Amino acid sequence: MARQIVLTGVKPTGMPHMGNWVGALRPTVELSQADDQLGYFFIADYHALTGLREGKQLKQFSYSVAATWIALGLDPAKSVLYRQSDIPEVFELSWVLACFSPKGLMNRAHAYKAQVQKNQEAGETDLDAGVNMGVYTYPILMAADILLMGTNLVPVGSDQQQHVEIARDLAQYFNRQYQREIFTLPEALVEESTAVLPGIDGRKMSKSYNNHIPIFEAPERVRKLIMRIQTDSSLPGEPKDPESSTVFQLYRVLASPSETEAMKRAYAEGIAWKDAKDALYDRFQETFAEPTARYKELMANPQELERIFSEGRDRAGQAARKIMSKVRRAIGTA
Ligand code: TRP
Repeated sequence: MARQIVLTGVKPTGMPHMGNWVGALRPTVELSQADDQLGYFFIADYHALTGLREGKQLKQFSYSVAATWIALGLDPAKSVLYRQSDIPEVFELSWVLACFSPKGLMNRAHAYKAQVQKNQEAGETDLDAGVNMGVYTYPILMAADILLMGTNLVPVGSDQQQHVEIARDLAQYFNRQYQREIFTLPEALVEESTAVLPGIDGRKMSKSYNNHIPIFEAPERVRKLIMRIQTDSSLPGEPKDPESSTVFQLYRVLASPSETEAMKRAYAEGIAWKDAKDALYDRFQETFAEPTARYKELMANPQELERIFSEGRDRAGQAARKIMSKVRRAIGTA
């Protein structure tokens, strides 16, 4: 049986933190190691262009996504790691799909609707203020990313599920029109991470709250952030509730099940906050010290990253050309 094709993309937007790691990076790297699947992992740099207009930054952030994946264990020889902008067929297919996309389908896409609602609330007379066509047609470009590689499964956060459904709809319209199964129908694989990871102030960890712990960070800085995590005022020796503790929630995602159990007992027995934080710091370093060194090494070696991108361009390009030539034959441009 042919291997399942798994594909996901990440917009290059900055340095990863623990929330990104738990929600997206760790699951992606684990998937990339499965032998019954072929993974396509790419940097959605043209999607980032809808909002990021600093060329140097876009380029650096793109390197950063690749270096992050590799540092955490994604093997670019096993999976296909590429930059979206290196595959011109993506943009060719994007136009074709646009011609199959009812305009109303884009009006209903969440990100666009959210912007319109914001304008409404702000009393803007132009409800489309701040919306460029890249934002508006974002789901079509994403459908092209997905359909061009013959993708079966798309691991994404729940905010992206609607986009995968749009890709599926467009694939169906197209297949029906030409009466053949040119596109595989993709399915979203939504990480049902039940708990949101809290940041150091207890709210959801997010760069926009500035409460995040970056995973590739100098040890002194990590220690400072961990020491700033909010706790209750219970004293050493007083029992503590692990479930309501941010320190414990962060420890848990880094520790093994048996370490987690042992830590729960320590909370019941009244571990001092200082000691609980030290334990978190130690687990953090055990998890990220080596990847941080590898990340830095890669970031200092852009030629190596370019070499990896050019390999990805060849492999992803091959798959892309195969499907694109079927599309061209069907629509009558080849
Ligand atoms: N839109 C996705 C995000 O913002 C990134 C992305 C672009 C993507 N193309 C994709 C994800 C294709 C999965 C498949 O997170």
